[in-house]
Amino acid sequence: MGILDKHKFIEKNATLLLAGSFVVVSIGGIVEIAPLFYLENTIEKVEGVRPYSPLELTGRDIYVREGCYVCHSQMIRPMRDEVERYGHYSLAAESMYDHPFQWGSKRTGPDLARVGGRYSDEWHVDHLSDPESVVPESVMPKYGFLLNTRLDGRYIGDAMQAHSIVGVPYTDEMLDNAQRDFTVQIDPYGDIDGLLERYPGAQVRNFDGEPGISEMDALIAYLQMLGTLVDFSTFIPDESR
Ligand code: HEC
Repeated sequence: MGILDKHKFIEKNATLLLAGSFVVVSIGGIVEIAPLFYLENTIEKVEGVRPYSPLELTGRDIYVREGCYVCHSQMIRPMRDEVERYGHYSLAAESMYDHPFQWGSKRTGPDLARVGGRYSDEWHVDHLSDPESVVPESVMPKYGFLLNTRLDGRYIGDAMQAHSIVGVPYTDEMLDNAQRDFTVQIDPYGDIDGLLERYPGAQVRNFDGEPGISEMDALIAYLQMLGTLVDFSTFIPDESR
């Protein structure tokens, strides 16, 4: 009986084929899954990555609420065309505090993982208010209404508390100062030392150029920090993993 005949025997016997398949799939599964139980962490630690500041987190919530992810991904794949267009490929650590993550796969518009610092705040206000005013061929919707809703950060501490339950390391100090840090981030003349100590590298300025804090401020604060936390001029990937 040749090997093919033996296989024919298995293929003709449904129960045997099912049992055989189960054994093969189980082995494959164990080989893939078992090592994960012995790794302490699948996300390498990367310097510079920190939880979102209260204003940035608010902006991120607006980003999710408005469904920006429907047209924009936030993950640069490690392929040459992507890296040349968008910048250094995304690291797992860069989205470790994202709940839910915004990687996405739909790119009606460009990937936004490294959009921080690419444009001025004024450009963002113009672009979000009327995308075609700065990119004539744009099909992006208008979000000018974000300028109309004022925010006072009253509930951002609660949102941060919820994030800490799912593992974002917000400290008691961060939670206690949530509303204060929220308001001071748009005021360069304010008492910002505490904010900068808690959220190193947080950008402090009036993002929308209008008095008060609007949803536009929060969203632009978020967009301007995207992909800027890790200093890629000094970053060395951990090849031992
Ligand atoms: C219907 C799809 C769609 C939605 C929804 C959408 N965008 Fe866009 N976006 C685009 C397209 C297309 C472009 C490219 C043309 C342009 O720059 O306007 C773009 C460009 C951008 C850019 C410039 C990126 C770059 O690198 O040039 C930013 C920033 C941006 N969008 C932010 C947002 C934000 C924030 C939201 C949610 C409030 C949003 N978009 C919602 C389609 C969309």
